[in-house]
Amino acid sequence: MAVSPKERNRAYHKRYKEDVEREGKSFYPYAVLHDSIMSLVVVAVIIVLAVIWHYTADGTDAGILGPWYTDQADPGTIAFVPRPDWFFYFLFYLLRIFKWPETVVLGTVGIPTLLLILLIGLPFYDRRPERRISRRPVATVAAILVVISMGVLTWKGATAKEALGSELIATGEPERWAQEQGFADNRTAVEGARLFAESGCLNCHTYLGEGNGNLGAPDLTDVGASGRGVDFFKSYVSNPAQYGNNVMISYGYLGDENLTKLATFLNASKGPK
Ligand code: HEC
Repeated sequence: MAVSPKERNRAYHKRYKEDVEREGKSFYPYAVLHDSIMSLVVVAVIIVLAVIWHYTADGTDAGILGPWYTDQADPGTIAFVPRPDWFFYFLFYLLRIFKWPETVVLGTVGIPTLLLILLIGLPFYDRRPERRISRRPVATVAAILVVISMGVLTWKGATAKEALGSELIATGEPERWAQEQGFADNRTAVEGARLFAESGCLNCHTYLGEGNGNLGAPDLTDVGASGRGVDFFKSYVSNPAQYGNNVMISYGYLGDENLTKLATFLNASKGPK
């Protein structure tokens, strides 16, 4: 005889009630006590670790849990590259995929919220009592896909290259650009290339395959090909807002000499021959 889903659910519910009756414990105080004790244990462990860290380390000397922080925080730095903890690498990389300003909200709010709603709604839309993995192809494939995509995103986020000025300069990137662009004999331009690598321009712009391409900033590999001249680039970089660019910060603080170097570099960047 066929059993209707309703009857089947009633039977499950009845059995559940009987189970609770027989061997169940109420949430309060049993489970609450359990959780409270466990939370306190975790907090106590953290406090103990902090105390060990503080008393075994001594200023710059590392103890068993590492040294104290000795450097002052610098709120004005633009060279700092923020990176999340490893368990947020997948979100971090999602943000990199949606790097155009109009789509950032998708990566930061849209997709995570959608997934959370799906997760919260799970008990309401997945009401089949079937437990065997082999009989739940849709749920199984969905779960595997979620795990794989989070794994891949975490991996990509962990290995994502930052356009770190010091790294680019150490590997001789600016000199390579000078060779490729044919301005190696223009000393001012080569110094400008180094400044360009150092000044965080590559956090937004790309140049000969380096950099991030964020916030709609254009590739600057052949920005000099337009023939707008050194003076234009100087004025642009020192105050981009006057050209309607409110995304890029003003680099006037670099000073006239450095701005000349940067502008000479930009003007000499006419695309590889
Ligand atoms: C916060 C992101 C950001 C940073 C950092 C940044 N820029 Fe920009 N820059 C932009 C954006 C966005 C545009 C395009 C604005 C537009 O199209 O109106 C732009 C445009 C430019 C242009 C004009 C390109 C053209 O063809 O008109 C130049 C030149 C330029 N940037 C140079 C630099 C240099 C040099 C640095 C570093 C000293 C730098 N930028 C740092 C975001 C940035």
